[in-house]
Amino acid sequence: MASRSKLDERLSALLSTRKNKGRFRSLKEYDTSSASHLTDFSSNDYLSLTTDPGLRESYLSRLSNSENVLGSTGSRLLSGGTCAHASLESRLGEHFSSSALLFNSGWDANVSLFSNVPQPGDIVVYDELIHASVHDGMRASRVPPASRRKFAHNDPASLAALLQSLNIKGETVFLALESLYSMDGDFAPLPALLDVFDAHVPRHQQCVVVDEAHTTGTYGPGGRGIVHSLSEDRVTIRLMTFGKGVGASGAVLLCSETVRSFLINFARPFIFSTAMPLSSVLALEAVWSFLASPGGDEKRADLARVIASLHAHLAPLLARTSPALLRLPDPTPVPFSGAVGLEPSPPAPIVGLLTPTPHALSAFLLERGFIVRPVVPPTVPAGGERVRICLRAGVSEARVAELVGAIGEWVERQHEKARL
Ligand SMILES: Cc1ncc(COP(=O)(O)O)c(C=O)c1O
Repeated sequence: MASRSKLDERLSALLSTRKNKGRFRSLKEYDTSSASHLTDFSSNDYLSLTTDPGLRESYLSRLSNSENVLGSTGSRLLSGGTCAHASLESRLGEHFSSSALLFNSGWDANVSLFSNVPQPGDIVVYDELIHASVHDGMRASRVPPASRRKFAHNDPASLAALLQSLNIKGETVFLALESLYSMDGDFAPLPALLDVFDAHVPRHQQCVVVDEAHTTGTYGPGGRGIVHSLSEDRVTIRLMTFGKGVGASGAVLLCSETVRSFLINFARPFIFSTAMPLSSVLALEAVWSFLASPGGDEKRADLARVIASLHAHLAPLLARTSPALLRLPDPTPVPFSGAVGLEPSPPAPIVGLLTPTPHALSAFLLERGFIVRPVVPPTVPAGGERVRICLRAGVSEARVAELVGAIGEWVERQHEKARL
């Protein structure tokens, strides 16, 4: 057997350090097929579209009626630029009333946007919990670290203090937000944040970017997301991703025609990568037809039912549990408000349950047939350890009650241990 290389030795030492910190990651696969006894409360398939029989039929029929169904054969700028891609893009552009540019993933879209669009001299202001892909994009940009500034999560007062401290002259100021944050399951108070931004930055110097990864498909009419439902059009660029509530993969950036053209010319993940496969384009045609139909409304309503049912079962359990053992995250300083057709604070399909021992709770729940994953630092700040429950349309009220029953059983055991 070949001896271990120098590189392997160094990497192994780094992995051991990570293990010692309790931060080691490894891949785990679970059987979540219909034959399995496990119920998946960790999936981002919020509308359960990946298992919808009607959608499966619609996709398969599109595949069987298409001449080409496999790869795209090249980058969009070369042989991969097919009529199917252009037609999906114009359909999405119409649906969202914007220019649209497809990407292979939300990651690629954020990296492309934040590494290329902010220019030297510009400032990027971002929520401290913004997604890793925005950080990677900013790092590769020509904006120096001193001009990339964070404010406290969802806190308009912190944004105001930050903007006040900046010496804003004629440059463009980017504001990077998510509509729904995936760790606490809390919505950005968009109208309040945008009012603060307006008070400090003239409109023609603003570039507001909202990442709707966790709200695409699941909120707004036809699944158009949160920003679409705001009472005023103040967001410059939106990212809609297809890997979560849309049940497929890929993403679309909704932006001006100029930004679109700029990305086509300068964004390396767009220029130097094979275009989305035709199979994915066909899947997205099927899904967006569904999302815009009454079937989409039914799924969104069903998801709201599942969310309400979890909270109804959870509330009495949390009321009798020590918050040191299990609690919901602190609420956002200013609640979400100001969207047309949405509740003042729409219910979120992500529920974080903070606990100092998330691995133990997750393992206990798995034994009882529930996949609920632990989330630990560095994904969340130290002290923010939790299990994260992701809800989906189609999950029965009985199954939700059983999940909360199992969490209650675990809590009881911890209380008993503490009494001994
Ligand atoms: C907020 C946010 N933005 C972007 C992404 C990346 O999207 P994708 O999974 O399509 O690469 C994710 C996915 O994890 C996300 O949660």
